[in-house]
Amino acid sequence: MTEKIVKSAVLGFPRIGGNRELKKHTEKFWSDRSDRWVGYEGDSGNKEENTAAPDLSGELEREKNLIQVGKEIREKNWKLQKEAEVDIIASNDFSFYDQVLDLSVLFNVIPDRYKKFGLTPLETMFAMGRGLQEGPVDVTALEMVKWFDSNYHYVRPTFSNSTEFKLNGQKPVDEYLEAKELGIETRPVLLGPISFLYLGKADRDSTGLNPLSLLPKLLPVYAEILNKLAAAGAKSVQVDEPILVLDLEDDVQNTFKVAYDQLAAETEVEIVLATYFGTVSPNLKAIKNLPVSGFHFDFVRNPEQFDDVISILNDKQSLSVGVVDGRNVWKNNFANSSELVNKAIEKLGADRVVVSTSSSLLHTPVDLDNEKKLDPEIKNWLSFAKQKVTEVVTLAKHASGEDVSVEFEANAKALASRSSSSITNNPEVQDRISGITESQSTRSAPFEVRSKEQQEIFKLPLFPSTTIGSFPQTKEIRINRNKLVKGAISEKEYEGFIQSEIEKVIRFQEEIGLDVLVHGEPERNDMVQYFGEKINGYVFTVNGWVQSYGSRYVRPPIIVGDLSRPAAMSVKESVYAQSITTKPVKGMLTGPVTCLRWSFPRVDIDQRAQALQLALVLRDEVNDLEAAGIKIIQVDEPAIREGLPLRSGKERSDYLQWAAQAFRLATSGVANQTQIHSHFCYSDLDPNHIKALDADVVSIEFSKKDDPGYIKEFQTYPNHIGLGLFDIHSPRVPSKEEFIEKIETIMKYYPAEKFWVNPDCGLKTRGWQETKESLTNMVAAAKVFRERYEK
Ligand SMILES: *[C@@H]1O[C@H](CO)[C@@H](O)[C@H](O)[C@H]1NC(C)=O
Ligand SMILES: *[C@@H]1O[C@H](CO)[C@@H](O)[C@H](O)[C@H]1NC(C)=O
Ligand SMILES: *[C@@H]1O[C@H](CO)[C@@H](O)[C@H](O)[C@H]1NC(C)=O
Repeated sequence: MTEKIVKSAVLGFPRIGGNRELKKHTEKFWSDRSDRWVGYEGDSGNKEENTAAPDLSGELEREKNLIQVGKEIREKNWKLQKEAEVDIIASNDFSFYDQVLDLSVLFNVIPDRYKKFGLTPLETMFAMGRGLQEGPVDVTALEMVKWFDSNYHYVRPTFSNSTEFKLNGQKPVDEYLEAKELGIETRPVLLGPISFLYLGKADRDSTGLNPLSLLPKLLPVYAEILNKLAAAGAKSVQVDEPILVLDLEDDVQNTFKVAYDQLAAETEVEIVLATYFGTVSPNLKAIKNLPVSGFHFDFVRNPEQFDDVISILNDKQSLSVGVVDGRNVWKNNFANSSELVNKAIEKLGADRVVVSTSSSLLHTPVDLDNEKKLDPEIKNWLSFAKQKVTEVVTLAKHASGEDVSVEFEANAKALASRSSSSITNNPEVQDRISGITESQSTRSAPFEVRSKEQQEIFKLPLFPSTTIGSFPQTKEIRINRNKLVKGAISEKEYEGFIQSEIEKVIRFQEEIGLDVLVHGEPERNDMVQYFGEKINGYVFTVNGWVQSYGSRYVRPPIIVGDLSRPAAMSVKESVYAQSITTKPVKGMLTGPVTCLRWSFPRVDIDQRAQALQLALVLRDEVNDLEAAGIKIIQVDEPAIREGLPLRSGKERSDYLQWAAQAFRLATSGVANQTQIHSHFCYSDLDPNHIKALDADVVSIEFSKKDDPGYIKEFQTYPNHIGLGLFDIHSPRVPSKEEFIEKIETIMKYYPAEKFWVNPDCGLKTRGWQETKESLTNMVAAAKVFRERYEK
């Protein structure tokens, strides 16, 4: 391999394996329970004896296989990049669960409750990530939150006043050496000290603790791991400080200089400071004059930060130009990327410029070559992690003056074929979009008028009860769905099966006395995929998995072209359900913003345009449901909050404007008497954002929020609301008294005549038994309040 002048870098590679090896082996490891606690259960009350001096040899033996699987995945990933001629390959981008959790373990940020039982390091890490209930051990997981605006979730570092930073093992060094032994020089990657603290929180025993105040204690340990890496031979380390793309207070910005000065004084290794998913322009002050050898920036998201970041480089620092999108599945635009790379070379000289992925490739599927079923025309527009690696190298070669004209021509051709394809362009859809009027996205009467007219029809009691939509997806449902896919049963037989499931759910709801029913969604595999499969302009992968958290991976559908609906998508099931009961049954749809957020969007038109196209598709469906006699229609937007741009300001207000517009466009084509519901997961919603949707009834995930402050925020919410009363993620059955207590708390702040009684979320993942018991108790509690307030 010839030495290129302009180097190529990959910030991280997916660690799940090309065929989800990591998931399969970790889940097997979890389900083959350790036999170390045998003798504990049934050995009543002898806790101390059993927890003392555990013998870990059996456990360590059991872990060997999983550890080996990790090693094989790393080796494959490194070799793949080496063979593609990547100059700067990341190490320590692997994790069995989450890279932030790994760092918590490395720095001994382990709350005491995980330390009491003599668990192995690997067990401790999994216990922190997902909880552990085994033998005498009963610990819940640490909090997990979204990784910036991606669909990845990380485990929050959880600090307490007694946290004692020290190195626990040396994972980054071990993995660096592992690569070195394979003959591959890597650049280890670590989350930076300030982001690590800033993204963390105080543990429940240490309220009032500001994690950033721990920086002086963390830095010496951080320097220690950097020095160990240097001693092992690493010349440079990629230190990620992604919080630099957030709105940062002055004191946080000032911390950077202090921290990096100290690291520079205490270590020899070169640091390349990396940010991604946004612009650093408002935080330039934080990174000016930092003693680092170079910076990495995301120019896919924010090419306009170019001049700003150039202005803070000293005359030696390198610039890693992130031009290959780590968050999407599309082929790079070589012409555009090389234009930006050339601009950097002009300013800095070729030897100071590196061509890179915009972020780690963790957020993209592994390998497009695994997709055998995709239409070749569409496949030619796509690029997954493995293909993106090659793109980075090609761009670096181009910048180094090598002849890659064949690759550039093929790239230009692919992009041209996409922009002219009839798959991407549907003039009818484009006409409809340009003809959208304000009145189309406004209900024809205000809520006060609508709600009166609706009540005349539905005559609902006070504290009306309902569920969010799905009922348990039993094994039988999955078996029948598979049979249909494999052709083992006919469409007609499958439909008969679905109808019998719907009937079961309807009868159950009638029996326990729910007021507004649902059909239970037995026909749906996933709330976005189900509709995507019925919308023109969507495609699906067979193996396009992306890690969402731990061993949970998702396979987002891809929006490739203008979206349209060839036929009704959900009317049949809703109409059947309504035909067998006199109570109102809700029609159930997934909202435009959620469909967009949980898909890979197009990059050739903006997200607003795609949301509006989805809104028109859904508007037609809502209207069809209404015409078919469905009088209550729920359009779920669980993902609306997570789409919120990271920074306040224009980008955020624009998003809120079009997200609300898309929802209203989908739902405003109905009569005053038709009741529109919506549902949101994830808390921390701003009531004003929900208000802008103008739904008649909203339900919100709420059970984990027992904070009256949050209830108060909704006091001013003008329409009807159901604050979710029980957590559907847990098999635990709340008693009637518990429901009563919860509702009593809410009633201190919220008017009874606007309150609905419902669970937190759909019941898809629950068993029937706990569903029956929980809902029965919930409805019984609603009746208690009805009697109290109707007097
Ligand atoms: C933990 O430390 C913080 C900051 O020093 C302090 O305000 C808080 O009271 C401490 N909490 C406990 C429980 O000691
Ligand atoms: C690529 O460059 C062309 C021409 O300079 C420009 O019109 C287009 O917007 C650019 N596309 C992207 C994705 O940056
Ligand atoms: C809804 O109510 C408004 C105001 O009362 C009225 O002007 C409008 O015609 C009604 N629309 C429908 C579709 O019933």
